[in-house]
Amino acid sequence: MHPKYLLSRGFFLCSRKRSVFSVYRATFGRSGLHGKRFAGIYRVRATVGCDKIPSDPRRSLEDVRLIGAEGSIRLPVGGSMSSIKVAIVGMGNCASSLVQGIEYYKNRTPEEAIGLMNWEIGGFRPSDLEVVAAFDVDVRKVGKDVAEAIYESPNCTTVFCDNVPKTGVRVSMGCTLDGVAAHMADYDERRTFLPSDDPESTQREIVETLVQSGTEILISYLPVGSEEAARFYAECALEAGVALVNCMPVFIVSDPAFASRFEERGIPIVGDDIKAQLGATITHRTLTDLFAKRGVKLERTYQLNTGGNTDFLNMLNRDRLASKKESKTEAVQSVALERMDDDNIHVGPSDYVPWQNDNKVCFLRMEGKLFGDVPMNIELRLSVEDSPNSAGVSIDAIRCAKVALDRGVGGILHSASSYFMKHPPEQTTDDIAYQHVQEFIAGERER
Ligand SMILES: NC(=O)c1ccc[n+]([C@@H]2O[C@H](COP(=O)([O-])OP(=O)(O)OC[C@H]3O[C@@H](n4cnc5c(N)ncnc54)[C@H](O)[C@@H]3O)[C@@H](O)[C@H]2O)c1
Repeated sequence: MHPKYLLSRGFFLCSRKRSVFSVYRATFGRSGLHGKRFAGIYRVRATVGCDKIPSDPRRSLEDVRLIGAEGSIRLPVGGSMSSIKVAIVGMGNCASSLVQGIEYYKNRTPEEAIGLMNWEIGGFRPSDLEVVAAFDVDVRKVGKDVAEAIYESPNCTTVFCDNVPKTGVRVSMGCTLDGVAAHMADYDERRTFLPSDDPESTQREIVETLVQSGTEILISYLPVGSEEAARFYAECALEAGVALVNCMPVFIVSDPAFASRFEERGIPIVGDDIKAQLGATITHRTLTDLFAKRGVKLERTYQLNTGGNTDFLNMLNRDRLASKKESKTEAVQSVALERMDDDNIHVGPSDYVPWQNDNKVCFLRMEGKLFGDVPMNIELRLSVEDSPNSAGVSIDAIRCAKVALDRGVGGILHSASSYFMKHPPEQTTDDIAYQHVQEFIAGERER
């Protein structure tokens, strides 16, 4: 390895052939300079502020725009990577786990960092996320600092980090639309949404907040069934020109008409409906794929889920469930060797059990036929804390969206959507999706 240009912030370029470079993150050991490949192979084609590759080793990387086969990447400058500016819609349990996680992984080494799929993506660590704007409609959250709002009722998820420092960012009043279902008013206020009387924000105001806060990525954690609200905030993202990570099951990224509008504007999108780290969906899909690969005919299956958070309370209204049910059912059907008849597959949230709080229990049964048409079945019970399980995935989805922004890639990020989401525009098995995401991160795949 022959470092050609030393760059600030611990990066250097190694020449491969004329004007083709690999970017390395530098570490200094006893024997001198070492490097870990950071961003694939890039052809240095243009620079910002000068036309040549910087020959001055002290020159800042900000001055260099590296253009690879898969697009371009602008490397950050200074002592550490720049932050990823995120806005959150819906400061519920999932948002709480995500914000706690940003703090939790600060000051940890990769060896100590349990529970992550990727320590770094595009050079960004979990703690590089910065929440710069937030929207909710609950009186206990609106107006509070993000670091306080995440612990407010009806949030009930495990607190694994109780010392999130004040962010200086207050939760803004959003636009309710169909975000709060009528039946939610029938429950004790400790367990349900309590709508604020503050004047609702208009689309113009939300767009202004996104622009003024420097938001790069908007993440949507709205309740299931918020069809209008989900589209409304997606419109705000489009207008503000910020990337969208849609963690809830209203089809935006998997709606070709909506997605094409982001594509036209060159804005990256990842969605729809986050697939938890080790939850019911990925377990059910992996077992379904196993049946297919081992030649076992899957004849019947169910996945029954219970939980005691507001997500489960909200889903007691069956009218709001259509897209969630489709998202969860398709996630399983899409990896089956043969599609099962609708009567032979039942997947969905099944009941609200208040004392479970954010603990979700999944009961899974799969019935199949082995060699010689001989029957078999599996019964499985999975117990997980719902919201950290989703935050462990959104922390990667956000970083992939940021990598796309930096590379100038817009539209659907297929690899990230297929791996991180239950209802992506393109369904593949999870091992293929995993490989595609790793290729995307390494700069070997455009999207
Ligand atoms: N937990 C998981 O593993 C998981 C997995 C996949 C998908 N999801 C989805 O993520 C979404 C969020 O889940 P959660 O558990 O955080 O839900 P939650 O009920 O805890 O939070 C929803 C938040 O949205 C707020 N809200 C309602 N209407 C709003 C509006 N119009 N504008 C702004 N805020 C509004 C509520 O006040 C609440 O704070 C749900 O759609 C859920 O199905 C979660």
